[in-house]
Amino acid sequence: MAKNPIKITDTTFRDGHQSLMATRLRMEDMEPLLADMDAIGFHSMEVWGGATFDVTTRFLGEDPWERLRTFKRLLPNTPLSMLLRGQSLVGYRAYADDVVDAFVERSAEVGVDIFRVFDALNDPVNLGQAARAVKKAKKHLQMAVCYSITEEGRLGGPIYNLKYYMAKVKEFEALGADSICIKDMGGLLAPYDAFQLVTEIKKATKVPLQLHCHYTSGMASMTVLKAMEAGVDIVDTCLAPLALRTAQPAVEPLLVTLGDTDRDPGLDLDRILEIGDKLEKVLPKYRSYLERPRSAVIDARVLKHQIPGGMSSNLVSQLREAGAIDRLDEVLEEITRTRKDLGYPPLVTPMSQMIGSQAVNNVLFGHYEMITGPVRDYVAGAYGTPPAAIDKDLTKLAMTDREPITGRPADNIEPELEAAREAIKGISSDIDDVLIYALYPTTGLRFLKIKHGQEPMPDEMKPEYLETPQAATNLFDAPPRSPNARQFNVFVGGEHFQVEVDPVRPVGDAVVRQVSSAATPKSPPTGAPVQAPAPSPGPEVATGDATIVAPIPGIVLKYEVEVGQHVAAGDPVVLLEAMKMENSLPSPIDGTVKALPAQRGQTVAKDVVLAIISP
Ligand code: CO
Repeated sequence: MAKNPIKITDTTFRDGHQSLMATRLRMEDMEPLLADMDAIGFHSMEVWGGATFDVTTRFLGEDPWERLRTFKRLLPNTPLSMLLRGQSLVGYRAYADDVVDAFVERSAEVGVDIFRVFDALNDPVNLGQAARAVKKAKKHLQMAVCYSITEEGRLGGPIYNLKYYMAKVKEFEALGADSICIKDMGGLLAPYDAFQLVTEIKKATKVPLQLHCHYTSGMASMTVLKAMEAGVDIVDTCLAPLALRTAQPAVEPLLVTLGDTDRDPGLDLDRILEIGDKLEKVLPKYRSYLERPRSAVIDARVLKHQIPGGMSSNLVSQLREAGAIDRLDEVLEEITRTRKDLGYPPLVTPMSQMIGSQAVNNVLFGHYEMITGPVRDYVAGAYGTPPAAIDKDLTKLAMTDREPITGRPADNIEPELEAAREAIKGISSDIDDVLIYALYPTTGLRFLKIKHGQEPMPDEMKPEYLETPQAATNLFDAPPRSPNARQFNVFVGGEHFQVEVDPVRPVGDAVVRQVSSAATPKSPPTGAPVQAPAPSPGPEVATGDATIVAPIPGIVLKYEVEVGQHVAAGDPVVLLEAMKMENSLPSPIDGTVKALPAQRGQTVAKDVVLAIISP
C-alpha cells in the first residue's frame, strides 16, 4: 500500500468529450460503460456541468436532468462531480440569485456530490451565492482558480504571478472551500511552475488540492507528475480514447508511472484497458466531430495563443459552418489582441466564447464593427472586475447603449424564477423544466416543446448513425425510402442533377431510443412518421430593397421592429444568436420594414435573409 496514494477524478464523460468532440457523446453510448467505471474506485467522476447541460438541450434532444439521474443510478459507489460557472451556473451570463439557489439545490438532490465552482474572472463577488447554496445543500464545495498567464508564457509577470494565486486561494478558503482546484483549461501550466505553485499552496492551506489540466500544449502529463511530486492530492485524467489532444492526460500511463511508488493510486490497469476498448468501439460514429485539421496530437502554438480545448474545437466547427475555416489562423491571432483589449481575462467559459466570437466578428466584419451584446455587458462591468484595465477606445465603442455597473453584478438582476415558471406554464410546471427555461429561454424553450411532444424532434437532434454503411449491391437490397429522405439540387459544371438523400439508421431502433430519452412522450413511438416541412418560398426582394442576411449561422432571438415600421440606417432590426453570443444586426439603409421572414427561435444558415427594408 502506497503511503500517500494520489486520488484520481475521471473526466471522460464531461471534459473528455467536451474538449474533443464538442460534447456530443450521447447517454446511450456511455450507459453500457458505467457499471465497469463504478467498480474502478475513482475518487470521483466528473459527469455534468460545463457544456453538457447546454449541448444536451440544444443539440441532442436529451434531458440533462435525466442524464444526471442515470449517472447517479449506474454509478452508486463513485461521487459525482459537476463543473459550475459560479453565478453563470451552466450558462453564459450571470443569473439571478433565486435561479442560482434553485439550480444548486436541484443538482444536489438529483445527484451531484461535488460542485467545482469557478468564475471566469476569479472574482469572488460572482462565487459567493453559489458557494453558499452548495454549503446549504451539505455537498462538497470545491473552489477552482482559473490558471492563466500573459504573453510571457510562464507563471509570473505583472498579473498572473504567485502572489495572485495565493491571494485567490485565501479568498476561496474564506468562502468555505472544502477543497481547492487549480483549473488549467488552456494547458498552460508548465511542469516546474506547477511544482512551485503546488508547493506554495500546500504550505498555505490545509484543504485538499486538486489539479485539472488540459493536454493541449503537450505539457500536461509532465505537469501532473511534477504536481504529484510537490504533494497535490487529486488529479484529473481521462480514459485513453478521449484523453490527450485538448482533453486531460490519460490515466493508463499514469498508473504504470506510479506503480510501486508512494503515490500509487492502486487502480486496476487491466480493467481500465477493457473499458477503454469498449469506448473505442462507439467512437467511430462520432468521427465527424473527432476529425482534426492538423496531424499533430498537440498544438504547440497554444503556448502562444493560450486557447483552451473546448474553445478551439468550437471555433473550428463554427468557422466551418460559417464557411470561413480558412481564416482560423487569423482568428487565433485576433484572439490575443481582443483579450488584451478586454483586460486579460482568463480564457475560460464564458470569457473564451465571448472573446472567440468577438475575434471572429473582428476578422469577418472589421475591427469592433460588430460588438456582441456580451462584450458590451462585460465592458459595462456585468461580469465583474477584469484583472487589468479595458482598452479605452473599446470602452467608448461598447458603452454607447450601456450604463456602467458597480458593486456585485447579480445585485442588478431581479429574481427570474417566477417569470420562468409563468413563461412555460402551458408546457410544464416541473422545476427541472423551469430551470432549463430560466437558463436558456430560446434553445431551452424549443427543447421543452420537443420533450413534451408539442413539437417534433428535428432530424439534426436525432442520434446519428455514422458507421460505414453497408453498400447496397443491387436494388433489391436497397432499404425503403424513409420520410426523412430529402431532395437536393446538385450542380456540376453546367449540369444539374436532383438527388434524394436519406440518413442511414437502423429501422425502428432510432425511434425507440429517441423517445426513451424524453421523460414524458405525449405520442407513442409507433405514431405517424413526421413529415419534413416543405421548404417555404423565399421572400420577395424588389430592386432597390436592402436585405439583412445572417452573416454567420445562428438562431433568431427576436426582431426589434415590425413590418411597416420606419427605420433609420444603423437602427437595430434583428437579434441573432451566433456562436452562443447575441449580435444586433442593424438596418443598412433608411427605409420601411417590408418583410421579416424568420421566426423567433428559428435556426438559420449563413446568408439566409432575415429582413427586407424598402427605401
Ligand atoms: Co477542463
